[in-house]
Amino acid sequence: MQKIIHCCLIGAGRAGMIHARNYNGKVKNGKIIAVSDPNEEAAKKAQQELNCKYCYSDYNDALNNEEVDAIILVTPTKFHKEIAVAAAQKKKHVFCEKPLASNEEEAQSIIDACAQNNVKLQVGFMRRFDPEFVAAKEAIEEGAIGDVVLIKSLTHGPSEPKKWMYDITNSGGPIEEVNSHDFDALRWMANDEIKTIYAVGNNFRSPEVKEEYPDYYDTVAVTVTFNSGILGMVDGAQYVQYGYDARMEILGTKGCILVGDQGKNKLTIAESNGYIRTPAMPTWRYLFREAYQREDQSFVNCILNDTEPLVTGFDGLMSIKVVRAGLESLLEHKVVNIE
Ligand SMILES: NC(=O)c1ccc[n+]([C@@H]2O[C@H](COP(=O)([O-])OP(=O)(O)OC[C@H]3O[C@@H](n4cnc5c(N)ncnc54)[C@H](O)[C@@H]3O)[C@@H](O)[C@H]2O)c1
Repeated sequence: MQKIIHCCLIGAGRAGMIHARNYNGKVKNGKIIAVSDPNEEAAKKAQQELNCKYCYSDYNDALNNEEVDAIILVTPTKFHKEIAVAAAQKKKHVFCEKPLASNEEEAQSIIDACAQNNVKLQVGFMRRFDPEFVAAKEAIEEGAIGDVVLIKSLTHGPSEPKKWMYDITNSGGPIEEVNSHDFDALRWMANDEIKTIYAVGNNFRSPEVKEEYPDYYDTVAVTVTFNSGILGMVDGAQYVQYGYDARMEILGTKGCILVGDQGKNKLTIAESNGYIRTPAMPTWRYLFREAYQREDQSFVNCILNDTEPLVTGFDGLMSIKVVRAGLESLLEHKVVNIE
C-alpha cells in the first residue's frame, strides 16, 4: 500500500481552506491531519470541518509532530519565510502559497533551507495546473503556432481594496497581488526569463484617496521583453466590479492561442432586445478550483515519487524579482533591467 502524505495546514484562511478541502477527499494519498492558526476560532472551525486529529495555535507545535510529513503554508506572506525555514529544518516538505516570500532575500533563504534539508518546495502558481493553460503549453511545445513571439496576459479582480492596500509599500497593488500569476505564466509559456519591464498605472476607481495615497493605483499596464526577444504584455486591475477575469493570448509565427473567457459556465440567455447574456466569473476560487486540486495532487506526487515539483522555489523567486522590478518601473517611470 502506498504511503499517505500527512500534511499540516498552516493558516486556515480563504486560500488555506481551498487546499484543505482538496486534501479532504480529492487528493489521492494526501491528507490533512493537523491545522495551525493563531486565530483559535478559525483553527477549531477548520479542525471540525476537516475532521483532523491535531489543532495548534503555534505552528512550532505542528512542526514537532513527527506524524506530519509536509506543511501547506497559507499564512499572510510576511510569515512565509520564518515558517518555511523552520519546517525545512524539521524535515517537513513545504507547499507555499504565492508569493513565496516578501522579498528576494527571504525567498532565497527558503530555497536554501529546503535544499539543505532535502525536502520538496512547491510554490502555489496554480495556473500551471489549469487544464486549459496546460493544453496551451502543450500546443506550443507541439509547434502548433510556430515560434512564440508575443504573449498577453491579464488578471482583473472584483474586490474593493482594503484600507491598508492604498499604501502600496504595504500591498504592492495589483502588480503584486494579482499579476505575479501572469508573470509566472508568461515565463512558463515563453520558456525564458524576462529581461526588461516597463509599467504604468493609475487610480481610476478610488479618487477619494488620491491626495492621501498618490502612489496608489488600481490599474496597471506592463510591457516586458524576454532574453530571446519574445515580447509580453500584462495588465492588472482590482475592484473592477464585473467579476474575476484571467485570460491569456499567445501569438506565434504561425498561429495564435487564446486561453480563458469571462463567463462562469455554459448558460447563455439570448433576449429579444438583440443581446446575449451569460453569468460572469464570480471569483478565482471558482475559476481555478480544478487547478488547485491538481496542484495539491502534484505536490503529494512529487513527495511520493521523489521528483522535482512542477513549480519550484526558483519560479517563486523569479516572480518576486519581476514584481519588484515592475513596481520600481511604475514608481520611477523608467524601463528596468532584470538580472
Ligand atoms: N494562489 C492564489 O491565487 C492565492 C489566492 C489567495 C491568497 N493567496 C496567498 O495565500 C496566502 C494567504 O492568503 P489568504 O487570502 O488566505 O489570507 P487570510 O487572511 O484569509 O488567511 C490567513 C490565515 O493565516 C493565519 N495566520 C496568521 N499568522 C499565522 C501563523 N503565524 N501561523 C499560522 N497561521 C497564521 C490567519 O489567522 C488567517 O486565518 C497569502 O500569501 C496570499 O498571497 C494566494
